Amino acid sequence: MKYFVCNFKNKLTKDDVIKYNNRLSEIDVKMVNLVIVPSLPFLTFFDKNGYSLGSQDISSFMDKTITGEVTGEQLKSLGVEYVIVGHSERREYKHEINIDFINKINNALENGIKVIYCIGENEKDKEDGNTYMVLEKQISEVLNNVVVKNIIIAYEPVWAIGTGKVPSEKEIKDNIEFIKDIIEDNYDTKLDVLYGGSINKDNIASINAIKGVDGFLVGGASTSVDSLESMLLEIEK
Ligand code: PGA
Repeated sequence: MKYFVCNFKNKLTKDDVIKYNNRLSEIDVKMVNLVIVPSLPFLTFFDKNGYSLGSQDISSFMDKTITGEVTGEQLKSLGVEYVIVGHSERREYKHEINIDFINKINNALENGIKVIYCIGENEKDKEDGNTYMVLEKQISEVLNNVVVKNIIIAYEPVWAIGTGKVPSEKEIKDNIEFIKDIIEDNYDTKLDVLYGGSINKDNIASINAIKGVDGFLVGGASTSVDSLESMLLEIEK
């Protein structure tokens, strides 16, 4: 079953998430493995009825005396099953680097939480023809230092996130194939690879048809249940 991961970022308020959860219970989700990833304070507002819960962050420290941090143990105690690590917004705005991702992944895996590790080239990398080099580096510098198990890769070209721009079907297919080959060759295992970046109800069917796409990481278009429902209907057609 394909993954459908809804990354709400920091968009919804308390009233919004309560309404969202209520509306979600009216939708029959059977064709995808739906993962709802709200802001940390709202994790408990989602009842996990027919879907799983993910976190947008996890502490990179083992120490339990750090103000503002949320540990893997705490997330696990809330029934969180997934955590997003390495999102380009965390790389850009929070200056997170490989050692943070390695520690976060270890903290998640030690608590039985699956990791959605995000990678992707930026516009300049793409223009300079460096996409493969960048993807390879983002994979090896992190995955060489963790146990490569219970990890899902999200391929999210930075230039496609929240911009309305989407790579060609060939680009998505080739880049996901490249990622899968590296993982198989270097870690002797297979990992699912999601596509993320400006997915909406008009393009999801064609992205769904691309070979190698094991699911979706959706930001903006997932923050309304109507839009989520339309995207799910497109996949189920
Ligand atoms: P977007 O975001 O769907 O709004 O482009 C995707 C993401 O950031 O995961």
